[in-house]
Amino acid sequence: MLAYLNGQFISRSSATISVDDRGFIFGDGVYEVWRVVNGRLFEPDRHMARLGFGLRELRIATPESLNTRSVEEIAQRLLADSGLTDGEATFYMEVTRGAAPRAHQFPSATTAPTVYATVYRFAPPEELRARGAAAITMTDVRWLRCDIKTIQLLPNVLAKQAAVERGATDALLIRDGVVTEGSHANVVGVLDGSIRTHPTNHLILPGITRSIVLEQARGLGIPVREEPFTERDIDRLEELFLVGTTTDVMPIVRVNDRPVGTGTPGPITTRLLTEFRAHLDTSCAVAHALR
Ligand code: PDD
Repeated sequence: MLAYLNGQFISRSSATISVDDRGFIFGDGVYEVWRVVNGRLFEPDRHMARLGFGLRELRIATPESLNTRSVEEIAQRLLADSGLTDGEATFYMEVTRGAAPRAHQFPSATTAPTVYATVYRFAPPEELRARGAAAITMTDVRWLRCDIKTIQLLPNVLAKQAAVERGATDALLIRDGVVTEGSHANVVGVLDGSIRTHPTNHLILPGITRSIVLEQARGLGIPVREEPFTERDIDRLEELFLVGTTTDVMPIVRVNDRPVGTGTPGPITTRLLTEFRAHLDTSCAVAHALR
């Protein structure tokens, strides 16, 4: 597998960064994950916009060479040279504040950000999707800028690990009694026939899959309320699902070993997962045809 590091294309195994890199030392950076179908990036602009937002919020100077077009070119080369132009893949990009002697304040303005990218083969979890997955609940212990996609993912790592250790797929994070999101996906419930999900603010990542699925739900006439549901509401939910780049739409049929609704993927979830998959395929096929 090939990697891109600061302008060079090299094998991932030989790509190395400085021990002084602020991503390594402080988690001082941001990242993005794009879904790729048959060699085409899904929603390249929206992911670039979110990366740009994170860089601005953290005051990391966006490298001039980094725009949707150049990033797509980097991805195309990585995908082609890694034999990933067919089928499913992901494209990962990370930008850190660069390498400088360890000191908490920003380094000198001449410090160049580190830009790293790579691609991975991706296998959508279709069997689990058909069955529906299990989740646990955990306290959301993250900071108050969850809207920035930083590489500081320790709470997310611990939440996912706790879920795996309890035989579940993910953890629903609870802050002040309210369900915020999952370890690496947004969370959507169906309550009294309406879709309910946490509004986009500083407490969740504004997921690109989330926004597309909500647009699709509205288009289908399903009522959508961008209001959180509480931990206590979980027992009353008719349906529950996760949405994310590496998740698509994933039904959650058990929470803390109790069934959600009928304990099987519900009709709204099933409809939306079909609609989302069709949109993902069509949009990547259109991108392919346009090139
Ligand atoms: N995670 N919430 C969190 C905390 C996430 O990390 C992600 C994505 C999402 C979903 O966002 P989107 O639909 O734009 O992918 C929500 C990526 C895939 C990851 O960390 O691997």
